[in-house]
Amino acid sequence: MELTSEQMARYEEDGLLFFPSVFNDAEIAALQTATEALAVIDHPSRVMEKDGRTVRALHGCHLTSPVMSKLTRLPRLLRPAEQLVGGPTYVYQFKINFKAAFGGDVWKWHQDYIFWQKGDGMVEPRCVNIMVYLDEVTEFNGPLMCIPRSHRHGMIDVEAARGRGGWQDNVSADLKYSLDRETIAGLVKEGGIVAPKGPRGSVMIFHPNLAHGSAPNLSPWDRTMMIVTYNSVANVPVPPGEPRPEFLVSRDSRPLSYADGALVA
Ligand code: SIN
Ligand code: MN
Repeated sequence: MELTSEQMARYEEDGLLFFPSVFNDAEIAALQTATEALAVIDHPSRVMEKDGRTVRALHGCHLTSPVMSKLTRLPRLLRPAEQLVGGPTYVYQFKINFKAAFGGDVWKWHQDYIFWQKGDGMVEPRCVNIMVYLDEVTEFNGPLMCIPRSHRHGMIDVEAARGRGGWQDNVSADLKYSLDRETIAGLVKEGGIVAPKGPRGSVMIFHPNLAHGSAPNLSPWDRTMMIVTYNSVANVPVPPGEPRPEFLVSRDSRPLSYADGALVA
C-alpha cells in the first residue's frame, strides 16, 4: 500500500489516517487463530484486566508468532510506515489490545511517545503506529478516540502518576503518563474527537504524539486490535537504565524487508 502525497499531507495535518477493509476474512481469521493461541499462554507479556481473569493485552507477539511476524513485513503496513518515518524501519512494539466484551477497561487519554522517550530513551518521535482491527469496531465496543491535530503540540510533558514502579504502570488502566482534563478540553476545542469505526480488517495509522484513549467496553462485542509500532532504524533508543523487557521494546533494530505473497496461502 503506497500512500499518496495527499494522504501523507493529511497525516501531517491530522495525525491519523483510516483505511477500511485492508485485510480479507481469511487473513483476519488466521490472525485471530494465532491470537487465541497466544492468549491462553500464562507469561508476563500477557496483561490482565483488574479482574485478573480478562485478557487486556498481549505484547511482543511478532517475536513468537510466524503469521504476526509476516504481517509486520507485508507491504500494506511496512510501506506506509517507511513513507511516514522517512526510511527503513523495524518493529519497536507489537501488541494486541483486547477491550473484551463487558469487561474491557478504559485507556486514559495519553500520547504514546512520552512512554517511549522517558521509559526507553527514544530520541525523536520518528515512529508510527499502525493498527489492524480484528473485530468490527463500532460506537459501542470502545473505539479508539483520537484528537486530530493534537500531535502538532509535540510531546506534552506530564508528571508520572505514582504506580507500582515497574513497566506494568505503562500498560494497565492506571496509566503512568495521562493527559489531564484541562489539556484534553483545550486540544478537543482545537481538533474535535474522531473514533474511526469500520469492519474487521480495517487499518488505522496514527502519530506517536496524537492524543488518544478509549472508554470501557459495555457491549457484548469484543474489540480486538493489533498495534504495530514501527520505528526508524535511525532512531534506535538508548535506554536510560535497565531496558524494559524485549516484549515491550524489541532489541532487533535491523531494517525490515518486504514479505512476498499473501498473509495466508
Ligand atoms: C486502546 O486499545 O483502546 C488503546 C490503544 C493505545 O493506547 O495504544
Ligand atoms: Mn496509546
